[in-house]
Amino acid sequence: MKLILVGFGVVGQGFAEILRDKAAELKRSQGFAAAIIGVVTASKGALYRSDGLDLPALLEAAGDGSFALYPDQPGLRRGWGAEDMIAAGEADALVEVSPTNLETAQPALDICKRALDAGMHLVLANKGPVALDYANLQAKARAKGLQMRCEATVMAGTPTMQLADEALAGCEILSARGILNGTTNYILTQMESGMPYESALTQAQELGYAETDPTGDVEGWDAAGKVLILANALFGAALTMDDLDVSGITQISAADIADAQAAGCRYKLIAGATAEGGMVKATRLPLADPLAGVGGSTNAVTLETDLLGDITLIGAGAGKRETGAAILSDLLAIQRAAGLT
Ligand code: HSE
Repeated sequence: MKLILVGFGVVGQGFAEILRDKAAELKRSQGFAAAIIGVVTASKGALYRSDGLDLPALLEAAGDGSFALYPDQPGLRRGWGAEDMIAAGEADALVEVSPTNLETAQPALDICKRALDAGMHLVLANKGPVALDYANLQAKARAKGLQMRCEATVMAGTPTMQLADEALAGCEILSARGILNGTTNYILTQMESGMPYESALTQAQELGYAETDPTGDVEGWDAAGKVLILANALFGAALTMDDLDVSGITQISAADIADAQAAGCRYKLIAGATAEGGMVKATRLPLADPLAGVGGSTNAVTLETDLLGDITLIGAGAGKRETGAAILSDLLAIQRAAGLT
């Protein structure tokens, strides 16, 4: 499978590391072999090579901050834009891992549409296009017999979308509620141990949990984007940000957290939606609430279904390999659907 990556930050590099480290195992157990033929970034440059880029060299150059450090190879092109790479028509799938923009979803949204128009499957970790234009992207993909998959956008590689699409097929999903942002859950957990807010945020950034601009995490917009994706993808809602009541954790002080602890409670940033609307809000939960026990960057979601009642999934919510794993899982699903294994 030939891949173009748009973006090569924490998640893109996590995915490339998985391909580098598990190539033999993936070939053996899944019959899966992938080549990254193009990578385009805003800050490191762009590389394209029809026969595939060298993953160790790509990761080393990215670690040093510039693809100028990637060695010359026969057939290597530097400086192409995503449009040039799509127009070359060689990739089977485009993987969108550039930073999320929840206001316009651009420039990723146009790139995604262009890739589908060119006959490429689409895998996203970038939440913008699916939070703001899920129905159109899905319709475009289906009309062309292509797949648009976005497991990485909610709860990293924890299989939320696949659970709903496959294991819960036949159930109607009525609502989703849970902890959907790893950064804020990590910060709240650290603050309970006495760490100041700023230090906890810095740690969350260093651990690769936070968005490029962490404002979206701490003010609740990242969780809001995920709730929109769940509502629109899993229960066919047509919600927009205007249908959500959103706040974050920035107004929660160390004293608030201590008060909650003294009362046998714990603050969690809870996100939830039905087909009619939703909310994101820092909420004081009693310790007996199962969500109160979900700490660090771990996330949890409860899906309310018509046939099975509530199904709760707890697992990784953010992180380099944890999110890279979702991209791998989506590509394997594309391969299975194409009957290639
Ligand atoms: N910034 C996000 C989070 C990354 O903290 O949950 C995963 O979507």
